[in-house]
Amino acid sequence: MPLRKITEYPAQVLGLIGKPVTDFDDDLARLCSDMFETMYDAEGVGLAAPQIGLNLRLFVMDCEGTKLVAANPEIVATDGEQSSHEGCLSIGKVPAVVVRPQMARLRAQDENGEWFEREATGYAARAFMHETDHCNGKLFIDHLPKLRRDMIVKRFQKEKRWE
Ligand code: NI
Repeated sequence: MPLRKITEYPAQVLGLIGKPVTDFDDDLARLCSDMFETMYDAEGVGLAAPQIGLNLRLFVMDCEGTKLVAANPEIVATDGEQSSHEGCLSIGKVPAVVVRPQMARLRAQDENGEWFEREATGYAARAFMHETDHCNGKLFIDHLPKLRRDMIVKRFQKEKRWE
């Protein structure tokens, strides 16, 4: 199965609201398998379809024992608050502290189209929210004040020039 190329900021697709997944077929299974492989290769804990250039509401994750495929994901409940470092494969993993709920409940379809709900706390909850945001055209830096957002983008662009 081929690795997919990771789409980087400021690619337009990263800012679009994804189209719903409607076909739960072999092509989707292959796509999910490629996404897992690409995510592991990049040493990430989550990867959303827009991050490989596809305008689709789909992500995969494997974070602290929570491994799943989520099509048409929604965050249906949150609770509490956590503040810790977060990064994104599409922004060179440059880290920033992001405040998010401590708990999140995800509702989504698996690769067979079955709806499920899953609750997580801490880092895995953060991944639920980060990846669901991707499906809505939102990046983690959109949660930051403008000055800090600009700093992350500058650092990312600088590191790109060194590659
Ligand atoms: Ni990301």
